[in-house]
Amino acid sequence: MGGVLVWVPAAWAAAGLAGLPGVDVQVVALGRDMGETGARVGTPVVASSAAANPVPASVADVEFYVPSFFPSPAGTAVLADMKRLRVVQTITAGVDWLRPHLPPGVTLCNARGAHDASTAEWVVAAMLSALRGFPAFSAAQAAGEWAYQGTDQLADKTVLIVGYGSIGAAVERRLAGFEVTVRRVARDARDGVAGVADLPALLPEADVVVLLVPYTPETAGLADADFLARLKDGALLVNAARGAVVDTAALVAEVSRGRLRAALDVTDPEPLPPGHPLWSLSGVFLTPHVAASTPVSRQRAAGLVRDQVIAYSRGEPLRNVIGGAY
Ligand SMILES: NC(=O)c1ccc[n+]([C@@H]2O[C@H](COP(=O)([O-])OP(=O)(O)OC[C@H]3O[C@@H](n4cnc5c(N)ncnc54)[C@H](OP(=O)(O)O)[C@@H]3O)[C@@H](O)[C@H]2O)c1
Repeated sequence: MGGVLVWVPAAWAAAGLAGLPGVDVQVVALGRDMGETGARVGTPVVASSAAANPVPASVADVEFYVPSFFPSPAGTAVLADMKRLRVVQTITAGVDWLRPHLPPGVTLCNARGAHDASTAEWVVAAMLSALRGFPAFSAAQAAGEWAYQGTDQLADKTVLIVGYGSIGAAVERRLAGFEVTVRRVARDARDGVAGVADLPALLPEADVVVLLVPYTPETAGLADADFLARLKDGALLVNAARGAVVDTAALVAEVSRGRLRAALDVTDPEPLPPGHPLWSLSGVFLTPHVAASTPVSRQRAAGLVRDQVIAYSRGEPLRNVIGGAY
């Protein structure tokens, strides 16, 4: 010991730091990891007992902290005991869960870029699955029914990307072959990208709306009753951002009436409690916040952590520093 002490949440992240001079690495899991990535869907997930782990005495010496992929009270409470902390590097793109706990003077960096491919892939897969009726066909298969019927399609649709950032641009690149019209929205208008103030005019033209904004005070409830009411009948809302960007009660009301459809990787709350209307609403396709849980995301997150630890230990500038609202 004696170098920069780095806490990482899992062995895969530690492996990425192996052999770095002047860096001491400790694996301290205070929350749930990304899971056994690459596992076939349906493989049981072993629940983490990390929350019960004691906090090592080295907490006072940590300079560079990489919290677990999924937020946990233990993983944020520990920040108060990190007296030498300089950098928190998340392996998530969103940092909404961490910001309120960040001690003053500590630099926060997110994993912008690491999850672009996985999350954009989920968005396109969700769009196609919902429009081509895969959830219903899957249910029919499970029931042993040959349930022939025509479906909707993606071609000729207008796709509105709300939050045209790193992942939003990756979605657009993946949609290039699908014969769709893409419209882009960010905070402020710029070349080829509309501003959030233009949403009321853009929403009625959209067949598919993809939410990819960070969760901030400005985006909380962005997709509210008024937003949803502006969408045309049969429009599909795809949420890969954060559950609370959508007014869930308003969405449930619109989908219950059969006016809108939804494909959701994120919900408010998470996990969705038993009996919640989103579980059983026809027209809603749900996945349990898995868009970024793939081997590629994990490799890229490990690579980012390595680059950032090297930069920090050499006194060089860090990437993905969160300076403003997100
Ligand atoms: N489901 C998952 O597993 C998963 C995985 C990864 C990420 N995510 C979520 O996706 C979010 C986006 O990630 P990213 O890496 O693409 O972020 P990013 O590159 O920072 O892009 C965010 C985009 O949202 C726009 N934006 C911010 N506030 C807005 C507002 N009030 N109204 C309209 N647009 C607004 C930004 O506009 P400007 O360009 O004008 O700033 C930017 O275009 C993350 O914060 C995270 O919550 C979810």
